Amino acid sequence: MSHPWPVLSLVRELPEVSGKLCAAIGLTTTLGVVLPIGFLVSTGVLVGAVPAALDEGLDASADGRIVAALTAAGACVAVHQGLRPLHQALVSDLGTRLENHLRDLVIGASLRPAGIGHLEERSRLDRLEAARGVASGGFTPEVTVDGLVNVTIRYASAAIAIALLATGAWWVAAVLAATQLWAGRQVRRHFFTSAALVTGEIPTLRRAGYFADLALTPVAAKEVRLFGLASWVGERFRHNWLAAMEGVWRARRGGHRRLAGAAVVASAGKLLAYLVLGRAAARGDISVGALAAYVQAVVVASSLATATGDDLCVANGMGSITAALQLAGHDPMPATARPCRSLDAADGIRFEDVWFTYPGADTPVLAGLDLEVPAGRSIAIVGANGAGKTTLVKLLARLYEPDAGRITVGGTDIREFDPRAWRDRLAVIFQDFVHYELPVADNVGLGRVPPGPALERAARQAGVLDVVERLPNRWHTDLSPQYPGGVDLSGGEWQRIALARALAALGRGADVLVLDEPTANLDVRAEVEIFDRILEAAAGTTTILISHRFSTVRRADRIVVLEAGRVAEAGDHDQLMAANGSYAGMFHLQAARFAGDAAGGAGDP
Ligand SMILES: Nc1ncnc2c1ncn2[C@@H]1O[C@H](COP(=O)(O)OP(=O)(O)OP(=O)(O)O)[C@@H](O)[C@H]1O
Ligand SMILES: [Mg+2]
Repeated sequence: MSHPWPVLSLVRELPEVSGKLCAAIGLTTTLGVVLPIGFLVSTGVLVGAVPAALDEGLDASADGRIVAALTAAGACVAVHQGLRPLHQALVSDLGTRLENHLRDLVIGASLRPAGIGHLEERSRLDRLEAARGVASGGFTPEVTVDGLVNVTIRYASAAIAIALLATGAWWVAAVLAATQLWAGRQVRRHFFTSAALVTGEIPTLRRAGYFADLALTPVAAKEVRLFGLASWVGERFRHNWLAAMEGVWRARRGGHRRLAGAAVVASAGKLLAYLVLGRAAARGDISVGALAAYVQAVVVASSLATATGDDLCVANGMGSITAALQLAGHDPMPATARPCRSLDAADGIRFEDVWFTYPGADTPVLAGLDLEVPAGRSIAIVGANGAGKTTLVKLLARLYEPDAGRITVGGTDIREFDPRAWRDRLAVIFQDFVHYELPVADNVGLGRVPPGPALERAARQAGVLDVVERLPNRWHTDLSPQYPGGVDLSGGEWQRIALARALAALGRGADVLVLDEPTANLDVRAEVEIFDRILEAAAGTTTILISHRFSTVRRADRIVVLEAGRVAEAGDHDQLMAANGSYAGMFHLQAARFAGDAAGGAGDP
């Protein structure tokens, strides 16, 4: 946080969290300010009444000022102390709710946009990391709210104390306010600056966090050990962490002179106030009672010059709260509301002069792509690594929007459909499909198709039903050994689960099947068997197939070769072979390797 004012955005947000709690806290906070001031005034009155009582005797103080003042002072203390636990509980409750509210905002802001481009924006990732509290040094939203309320009480009490002082000696009040505020500013600058420095180091902290994850989670456990990376990972973590934090620690150390200056000015201001008040009382300009009240007011006002743990909580904790609120207010690709009808037999998909460059990249991945996928037919897309095959599918699924050109279905631009409704029409399995650490039934049905005949049919078509039936808890077995009774599967078995996922979506009513490298992990026999069954299940469905395996590709009705972001060749297998272009070249290369590997096989991949 670079400036303390973002607290205003938090104050605006709190009524959204709980209006009633805010109202109750407003009341207890007001009492928290008023009651100590009440005590201060009553003790002043009490002290003021003492000389008369000494002269005339306690009984003689006819107006009972001493008793009244004592009762008032006692009542202020008693109510104030009695209310504290309730006040604390209310603030703590609001803090907990704020944490839940912010978490919902951040998760909602990540999930709500229809596309995924926002998840790759570096500035957003930094903000996300800040929202998770990486730079907040353990100062949670709960302690931040607590700190904010306490700081508010302190400021309000000091303001009233200064106003009180001003009624008797306005220029003392002015000098005191100026010196204490200036000193307090120096102290807070020290804390806020170091908090802002941490925020500026978030990219480095994010990198440090990545190395910590490599060490602490199973993600890279195999490679870290096999490549002997343990000490390297540890060293990289330490290096990044120190690089990020050293500047902050240095700034904190370097601020000592400023803090000392603040202490001198604050003390001088207070001393001057005591001196002036003392002389005024000695001269009889102010009464003893007023002196007692003013001296206490100086003590209360001097809290402006300090920074307590509460200021620290606000200075550090606001970083994560501000980041969460900024994330929530940023919606890069809102959904449109138009529902998407089911595709009919005549609805082909067309890419019309589509251009696309990834955010932050220089060269376009798709450069004037024209492609037609006839309804109810299968089309295979081949091309070198990085040719843009997966990108094309991401655009079709509206995870990104084309920079120019359009994608139509049955002549309608897909941007006119509600993205969620459009995606319900698609059954897509990406190359890097997700291994959900969830029961196998959820991995196939994704919570939308319950265990039963439909899931079993999909699993059978994908050649994975027997694997499921062998699992200790069948469809309910967790596909992660990190859960009790959970298991992991082989790469090929996972791929079949993913295929079953696509087929289950098809069974649920999707109209377009998109398989990105569906057979890369399958052994040769499984590939032939499973692929035949999938094509059978998808007969009459518009199918887009991306594969480097020509034995898979050649079964498609039409094949296109993607090169330099556009279609270089198109036709069926025989036409492309006859044309003797890229496709034929790649096919012969793979056939030759296959023949070599199979030691005299058919020469046909
Ligand atoms: N999220 C991303 N941000 C920036 N560039 C990306 C992103 N994803 C892919 N690219 C780049 O876009 C190009 C095309 O990637 P794409 O994944 O579409 O290739 P592909 O044809 O599917 O390749 P492969 O056969 O290896 O799967 C690549 O050069 C890649 O580096
Ligand atoms: Mg790909």
